[in-house]
Amino acid sequence: MSSSETTDAATKRSKAKTKVEASPSKDDERMLTKCAGGKAWVVSRFPHLLPKPEDVRIMHEPFVGGGAVMKHYLGRVPVRVNDKNAKLMAVYAAVRDEPESLIKILQLMRYDKDEFYRTRTAFNERWFQEEIAMRAAWFIYLNRTCFNGLYRENKLGHFNVPFGDYKNPLICDADGIRAWSEKLRKSNRMLYSIVGTAFGQLGVGDFQPTFDLVGYGDFVFLDCPYVPVNDTTAKFTEYQAGGFSMADQERLAACLPLLDRKGVRFLFTNAGIARELYKGWNILEVAVPRAINSKAGKRGKVPEIFVSNYPLTDPTKA
Ligand SMILES: C[S@@+](CC[C@H](N)C(=O)[O-])C[C@H]1O[C@@H](n2cnc3c(N)ncnc32)[C@H](O)[C@@H]1O
Repeated sequence: MSSSETTDAATKRSKAKTKVEASPSKDDERMLTKCAGGKAWVVSRFPHLLPKPEDVRIMHEPFVGGGAVMKHYLGRVPVRVNDKNAKLMAVYAAVRDEPESLIKILQLMRYDKDEFYRTRTAFNERWFQEEIAMRAAWFIYLNRTCFNGLYRENKLGHFNVPFGDYKNPLICDADGIRAWSEKLRKSNRMLYSIVGTAFGQLGVGDFQPTFDLVGYGDFVFLDCPYVPVNDTTAKFTEYQAGGFSMADQERLAACLPLLDRKGVRFLFTNAGIARELYKGWNILEVAVPRAINSKAGKRGKVPEIFVSNYPLTDPTKA
């Protein structure tokens, strides 16, 4: 769907296609936000590909999104994350610093179509004027009640995803927010004890400057928007007005030798068709169940790759 598509048209199409899940999965409940292309499956199915927390000095995630991999390390090692989406990063800041205010606001929010569109308008028009807990509450509410948990903006930078059809979406996961809050603060303190500052723990902006902050013994998990394979995956690149171009993919691939020279371990995920970009690095191809087609319920296995500067093994082939 193009970013400039009108809300009405998008709503009609989403209704035609939607057979949304009856209720959020257990994983979703414990994630702060749902994120297209989320990597909870990396942690559950391929944990052996992730360096053990005790072997990591600082964990970095420059495209953090919903933070499934960061969550694996959070509270166990110092963590530095970044995303170009400032509104998403405000969620992490509010969860860390203002969990109880955030919970109170979310508890008042109702799953209702009119409330959804009122909140969407407020989010687009008054986000800058609000304090951090309200900003985060709007984001979480919209994320958990919009169509498929997508985050997409039009050319004006306005969030334009329509209302989603759910049975009973969980809007306020108070225990989950408190648990995330505690772990974010713990990782913050650990970062401070190592580098003497927690600066940049929650970065907002392009991925490239974050590489200045990585050092020997660190682990960097890289999950940029994928090179699009077809119409469905092309949508995954529309996280932000502007998307992530092929030139961005090449710019990112060109940074890998620098990370390697610094003595950093990196693990990268992308669509299988992107493998040409990573010649010379270790590549493991895996088949991941995905919606591969715009028809409701059409799922299939799409090849995805892990790329790394350390050996990758597939336990299913051992
Ligand atoms: C595939 S998602 C990450 C998903 C995440 N690993 C998870 O488990 O939820 C990609 C993220 O990259 C962010 N992004 C897009 N372009 C970026 C850029 N140039 N620099 C940093 N982040 C960017 C998007 O806002 C989005 O949150």
